[in-house]
Amino acid sequence: TDALKIGIAGLGTVGAALFRAISTRHNSLAEICGREIIITAVSARDRTRDRGLDLDSVAWFDDPAAMAREADIDVFVELIGGDGDPAHAAVLAALGRGRHVVTANKAMLAKHGVELARLAESNGVLLNFEAAVAGGIPVIKAMRESLTGNSIQRIYGILNGTCNYILTRMQRDNMGFAECLSEAQRLGYAEADPAFDIEGNDTAHKLAILTSLAFGTEIASDEVYVEGITNISIDDIHAADELGYRIKLLGVAQRTASGIEQRVHPTMVPKGSMIAQVEGVTNAVTIEADILGELMLSGPGAGGDATASAVLGDVADIAKSRPGHQHAPALGRPATQLEPYRRAR
Ligand code: NDP
Ligand code: HSE
Repeated sequence: TDALKIGIAGLGTVGAALFRAISTRHNSLAEICGREIIITAVSARDRTRDRGLDLDSVAWFDDPAAMAREADIDVFVELIGGDGDPAHAAVLAALGRGRHVVTANKAMLAKHGVELARLAESNGVLLNFEAAVAGGIPVIKAMRESLTGNSIQRIYGILNGTCNYILTRMQRDNMGFAECLSEAQRLGYAEADPAFDIEGNDTAHKLAILTSLAFGTEIASDEVYVEGITNISIDDIHAADELGYRIKLLGVAQRTASGIEQRVHPTMVPKGSMIAQVEGVTNAVTIEADILGELMLSGPGAGGDATASAVLGDVADIAKSRPGHQHAPALGRPATQLEPYRRAR
């Protein structure tokens, strides 16, 4: 079988980690997938920046949309970020050209996910985005595939590694908010603009994607009530501790009699509960499903390698798929069959 050719747009924290993972595991990936995975093209802003990557044999594109249109690739991997261009235009160009897309961009999916899923389905290609929600945790695959047929009542959890890292260090090490955030940035956990993390919008983007998968509705990120952690002080954390609680930033989506409720806000959880034990960059997602019962997934929620692991899994799924094979729909059901979002009154 021919090699699977991929182009990586964005060579920052995640893109560089993916490049390294594929380069160092080339032979074992070829054995597992039954074909080679080769990086043929890359795109980023600054061509002169030393990234510690051997880019000699790959084509360089300043413009990711040009890479999507012109490069010799089967898969366009979008690791730029942001809900608008150049990421959105490049992904549209790739899908329009019949190329599979893998992305970690939850901001883009929260805004354009249904449109992109429709385009992927009408062009017979895959739109994979495991890394977009809860970093390395395989929650999209669980929702899209493993839980098929279950009716889901509620899905909630810790969906932002930066916030959980900050809250944990404030509580455990008495560190100030700003210092914890700088450390999260240094470790590669935070968004390019960390306001998305600490103000709760990143959690809202992820929650809106999970809501669509859980309830079969269109993605409605504007319908999420959002409150971040910027007002949480060390005093609040210590006061909660004395009362027997931890403070966590939770995203919660649930079905009610009148519609769906989506909210993101700091929450006091009893110290002895499982969710209170989720510390640092770790994320956790709990899903209440009628056939299965209650499922809790937890693991690394951010960081270059953890996120690259999820992206690599998505790429490998494409490498293993065979021509003529019917692809699983991006949002769990065909995008044309999603129900309109109905907000709880
Ligand atoms: P970085 O900011 O580290 O990297 C972004 C990359 O995109 C850089 O290589 C940058 O180029 C490139 N880029 C930015 N603007 C342009 C442009 N206009 N044209 C071409 N290239 C551009 O981000 P991350 O790697 O942290 O995140 C990438 C994506 O993954 C985002 O969607 C993020 O939300 C998501 N994500 C990140 C996680 C993490 O833990 N970091 C976890 C899960 C998802 P240059 O290097 O030249 O500046
Ligand atoms: N900034 C995000 C976080 C990256 O901290 O969770 C993972 O999506």
